Amino acid sequence: MRQTKNVTDIELNKVYNENCLETLKKMKDGSVNAVITSPPYNMNLRIRNGKYCSRQIVKELSTKYSNFDDNLPIDEYYELHLNILKELLRVSDMVFYNIQIVTGSKRAIFKIIGNLSDYLKDIVIWDKGHGQPAMAERVMNRRTELILIFDKNNAISRQFDKCNFNRGTLDDLWLIKRGQKVSSEHGAVFPEQLVYTILNNFTNEGDIIYDPFMGTGSTAVVSKKLKRNYIGSEISNEYMKVINERLSAVSETLF
Ligand SMILES: C[S@@+](CC[C@H](N)C(=O)[O-])C[C@H]1O[C@@H](n2cnc3c(N)ncnc32)[C@H](O)[C@@H]1O
Repeated sequence: MRQTKNVTDIELNKVYNENCLETLKKMKDGSVNAVITSPPYNMNLRIRNGKYCSRQIVKELSTKYSNFDDNLPIDEYYELHLNILKELLRVSDMVFYNIQIVTGSKRAIFKIIGNLSDYLKDIVIWDKGHGQPAMAERVMNRRTELILIFDKNNAISRQFDKCNFNRGTLDDLWLIKRGQKVSSEHGAVFPEQLVYTILNNFTNEGDIIYDPFMGTGSTAVVSKKLKRNYIGSEISNEYMKVINERLSAVSETLF
């Protein structure tokens, strides 16, 4: 029987309106069962004349209420996410890190995969059904995102210590349509089906799920529906309102 984790220093079923690094400081080692998250993709870092130019902001790709411009220099983006991932692996055995390869994330993701290869268990390809038209000539449309699955204890094996699927029943390519807009200001929302697929296959009722980049609250909403406990962090005050509205509308019924 799988044990539900114990987080005595931090309230469960709450989203903290702060930088996730602050929330993580309050969390004990091994205190949550799984992390499910999608960090900012550094959408506004561009390349001009063969060089990164971090100051050009493509406003239509910015989330209006973000407290950041989503255009960190590539090395800073890499260091930030490497550090956050190390912290996530301190508090959780399993981390599902959804990331899209765009210009501003590409080199950082490849370096993270190399640096954390001892903890990288597998990669799921999320196929959104159709590609987003490329922003420039001679660039492929991006139709997929990655879900990097990190396992703190047993990444050498592809066999999951804890899962609810039978042999031969879960593929590594997930065809799930893009998330529906739940707020006019946030374009990068998880489809509930994506969170459902992870929770259903890799967690159990009563488990504690942490999302350090809660956005509009999809991880918390589906966790509540499926009777998992959630903890979240979200830096934007405005998104907190969306999260609270969505959570209060959830009746605890299964899909
Ligand atoms: C890609 S969105 C997440 C979307 C989310 N999966 C959903 O379904 O709505 C990333 C979110 O992380 C938040 N964010 C960025 N940096 C953060 C940080 N250091 N700590 C906490 N939240 C942060 C942004 O405000 C944004 O809402």
